[in-house]
Amino acid sequence: MVLTAPSILSANFLELGREIRETEEAGADFFHIDVMDGIFVPNITIGYFIVEQIKKAATLPLDVHLMIERPDRFIRNFIDAGADILTIHYEADSHLNSTLNLIRLLGAKAGVSINPSTPVSALEDTLQDADVIMLMSVNPGFGGQRFIPHSLKKIAALKSMITQKGLTDVKIEVDGGVTVGNAANVAAAGADILVMGSAFYNSKNYKETIQAVKEKTNSYGR
Ligand code: DX5
Ligand code: ZN
Repeated sequence: MVLTAPSILSANFLELGREIRETEEAGADFFHIDVMDGIFVPNITIGYFIVEQIKKAATLPLDVHLMIERPDRFIRNFIDAGADILTIHYEADSHLNSTLNLIRLLGAKAGVSINPSTPVSALEDTLQDADVIMLMSVNPGFGGQRFIPHSLKKIAALKSMITQKGLTDVKIEVDGGVTVGNAANVAAAGADILVMGSAFYNSKNYKETIQAVKEKTNSYGR
């Protein structure tokens, strides 16, 4: 089964409590929360104080995506705030393995993400320290961008690298431009978790959107 993670970046922040409730009622699996610092990416979004507030309203696990430089400085803050999966960027941390170990030590699942221009092979010596690998299928910074088609090849390459190393517990998450229309292709390439921001929150009926994604992907995933 493929899991869905609506990205609250595209939600209506004036109605965040209602959005959280309706996302859960729709049958989503995680909340994806995009944290941006204005340096690693050209946008500033939310910090751990808001994550803490979301945690009070949500029952689903929080999948927190740190698009910040030197994420090692804030690991404890985000885990204390309620992150269940905490993902850092390969490009933003020169000591990935120790930061991933710290995330696990503090009780969260550890994720590592790569930008579209970073090859999957860069993670060759990191896979064993991660629970989730997140492939960016847009350049991070904003919701509502188009899926980069080359990402499908990267998903498949990552999947075979994971299988070859026998690390089959490592999950593949795909973030950026995922829609009901391309979900089947993304899942067929090997994705386990699909992030959906604008395609979910701009849809008329959240439940139907999740159901459509689940139906189109039900023969994939694990
Ligand atoms: C992009 C963020 C994504 C974004 C996804 O920098 O990391 O999580 O919110 O939004 P869509 O699905 O609209 O591309
Ligand atoms: Zn994200």
